[in-house]
Amino acid sequence: MTDQNWAEVDDYFTGALLSPDPVLDDALADSAAAGLPRIAVAPNQGKLLNLLARQAGARSILEVGTLGGYSTIWLARALPAGGKLVTCEYEPKHAEVAKANLARAGFGEDVVDIRVGAALDTLPTLTGPFDFIFVDADKNNLGNYVRAVLDLSRPGTTIVVDNVVRAGRVIDAGSTDPDVLGVREMVDVLAAEPRLDATAVQTVGTKGHDGFVLALVR
Ligand code: SAH
Ligand code: DHB
Ligand code: MG
Repeated sequence: MTDQNWAEVDDYFTGALLSPDPVLDDALADSAAAGLPRIAVAPNQGKLLNLLARQAGARSILEVGTLGGYSTIWLARALPAGGKLVTCEYEPKHAEVAKANLARAGFGEDVVDIRVGAALDTLPTLTGPFDFIFVDADKNNLGNYVRAVLDLSRPGTTIVVDNVVRAGRVIDAGSTDPDVLGVREMVDVLAAEPRLDATAVQTVGTKGHDGFVLALVR
């Protein structure tokens, strides 16, 4: 299998199982037009986040790493009436693009609260507990993010962490890449933290070879 085949399989399942969605398409198009990097979750991954959040019965969702709000829209759509989502983003420009994309998706500031700043500064100012947490910001800080969001969780909170495989680079114990070191530190936190029960799953598709962590707070 090649990256090309993986992408074609993603396209097949996405075409078969996801409804056409101009709001999500426009969010990606406007993000690209504004010069944001094209690193949002894939459509089938966005739907996985939506399904997981619904399965968790999430009424409060925390996201770390907003970008243009693509994954945010998928997650906000999982909320019941009265539900709330807080999303943390470092770049003011990304937050502005996300705000417009979310507004077009029907989510105003009453539902989605975009907090601009370094997430490690923002997280300690938030009030938990959150029912569902998606970590998808800078990878060098993954260990710190998992530690910080644990303080915003409760027993039963679901935590998903994106991009934990990075084309297999995660297994290079001698790596000096800060992103790889961040992933490995996070794995150490997951392994050592008695409050967390976690697994990691590799993925292939339009985003290449990567993977995610799924953790449940005990
Ligand atoms: N979740 C998005 C993609 C996020 S990309 C989606 O799937 O649609 C990662 C984002 O994290 C970028 O927008 C980047 O600006 C942001 N980021 C990087 N460092 C950060 C930090 N220290 N605090 C908060 N956000 C950060
Ligand atoms: C990158 C970040 C992501 O969140 C992602 O899903 C893919 C790539 C990156 O920083 O390269
Ligand atoms: Mg990601």
